Amino acid sequence: MSDERPAIEVDGLVKRFGDVEAVRGIGFSVRPGEVFGFLGPNGAGKSTTINMLCTLLRPSAGRARVAGHDVVAERDDVRRNIGLVFQDPTLDGYLTGEQNLRFHAELYGVPRALTADRMRQVLEMVGLWDRRGDRVETYSGGMKRRLEIARGLLHSPRVLFLDEPTVGLDPQTRASIWEYIRHLKDAEQITIFLTTHYMDEAEYCDRIAIMDSGRIVALDTPGALKEGVGKDRVQIRTADDTAAIAALRERFDLEATLAEGVVTFAVPSGEAFVPRLFAELGVPIVSVSVSRPSLDDVFMKFTGSTIRDAEGSATDWMRMAMRGRR
Ligand SMILES: Nc1ncnc2c1ncn2[C@@H]1O[C@H](COP(=O)(O)OP(=O)(O)O)[C@@H](O)[C@H]1O
Ligand SMILES: [Mg+2]
Repeated sequence: MSDERPAIEVDGLVKRFGDVEAVRGIGFSVRPGEVFGFLGPNGAGKSTTINMLCTLLRPSAGRARVAGHDVVAERDDVRRNIGLVFQDPTLDGYLTGEQNLRFHAELYGVPRALTADRMRQVLEMVGLWDRRGDRVETYSGGMKRRLEIARGLLHSPRVLFLDEPTVGLDPQTRASIWEYIRHLKDAEQITIFLTTHYMDEAEYCDRIAIMDSGRIVALDTPGALKEGVGKDRVQIRTADDTAAIAALRERFDLEATLAEGVVTFAVPSGEAFVPRLFAELGVPIVSVSVSRPSLDDVFMKFTGSTIRDAEGSATDWMRMAMRGRR
């Protein structure tokens, strides 16, 4: 098969659970070798999407092809070509790392003659070769996640799905998991589809789709999405904040906000603006900082709320829904 064909192709995909439309007609396509991320708050529909692509859930409408196969009509072909790391851990703690992998290899029909070499390869890749003989219950959270990634790779899938691969891990461990994921892309020439609700993690992806309430509201490279916000954030400390805010409005036609002694406003190119600011503000400036837009700003632009607020409302909504069910 030519490498030019998309690794994942999705068109008009919908999933309903009773009255709840968890995924509301999404479409996108992922290139072979890409690290593609779904970013969105809890309840956005990320896991539901992954589960449809992995053939664990049947779509209510629309189509999806993974590694060239239809997720409904060619379910077994899809399954043979994918690896999956679930949101919740599924390792057997009483078994060693090696035993966990061997069990999986048998499940997937990896030829016996190849198993030993392949196990060593994936265990070395995630830095667990030396710990292979230890029971998994003695592993740290990060080691368990790495073992799950190794397991997902064991049968040499063309597409690896990772649902919230770093959820619940400390920042340092999250960073190291990401190193392995990025490394995988080169070592295995694999396509990686993952979900996250951590803004900073979306930066590691080649492209991201921002998902909110079952819809894709934006899709591009992290850089292009941030450029699309169009403005830098300038923050200044001044000798007289009230006068500074008034001067920004009158002389520069800029609306600024004040919080904790910092005056904040947005301009198209912050660094070029700073010299003018010093020359023309007319209020002594104590310090200044310019920052590029972040993915938080992107999320805000497309959804009108921060990802944290969106999570709050989704959680509240779920609580209400649960109460209603009882
Ligand atoms: N099996 C299910 N039955 C009913 N509702 C579900 C089911 N799975 C998910 N949902 C609902 O679908 C929506 C999306 O959930 P999910 O895909 O898990 O979001 P995410 O992974 O982005 O947090 C939520 O409102 C959730 O409550
Ligand atoms: Mg989820």
